[in-house]
Amino acid sequence: MNTRRSGHIAALLLSLLLAGCEREAPVRGFVLPPGDADRGRQVFIDYNCYRCHSIPDVELPERDFEPPFVVELGGEVLRVKGYGELLTAVVYPDHIISPKYQNLLNRAGKDVQMTAMPYFGDSMTVTELTDLVEFLHGQYTRLQPTYYQPHYPGIR
Ligand code: HEC
Repeated sequence: MNTRRSGHIAALLLSLLLAGCEREAPVRGFVLPPGDADRGRQVFIDYNCYRCHSIPDVELPERDFEPPFVVELGGEVLRVKGYGELLTAVVYPDHIISPKYQNLLNRAGKDVQMTAMPYFGDSMTVTELTDLVEFLHGQYTRLQPTYYQPHYPGIR
């Protein structure tokens, strides 16, 4: 690989990273087709996400086993999760270990070494991923006084 090409790849990776960290700015550097939130809910069920996660006000099948920790997604949060962050959380769960999960473990007197969340990169299609993230993103869009989302004019 020549240096120019690797420079491009480095720039792409950097912009992906920034898109993940910089919530308020419109997503730049990569664009995925819009997802379908209803289908995303079905993906959430089909991939057994509900076995380890709950979402307030979303009806999900009953779990057939109780995981040691149920990490709640969505709902009323002080800082709304961005599209990029959610996408990264699904395809690369070890990148950032959810502070919520760390708190749950700390309270149980345990240290967090790595995520308990499986990798879905080899099983999920891109369409399933975009539908899923569309669905998840919608779970965090409840109005918060400090939350300003430039994509939706009128919401301050
Ligand atoms: C075996 C249990 C398990 C399954 C199945 C699972 N997760 Fe997770 N997930 C976790 C744990 C534990 C965490 C917290 C650690 C971390 O951030 O990686 C987590 C974190 C997350 C986060 C970040 C939450 C936050 O507040 O930062 C998202 C988003 C998420 N999972 C979505 C999903 C989706 C979507 C699926 C299904 C495709 C799924 N998870 C399947 C255990 C699981």
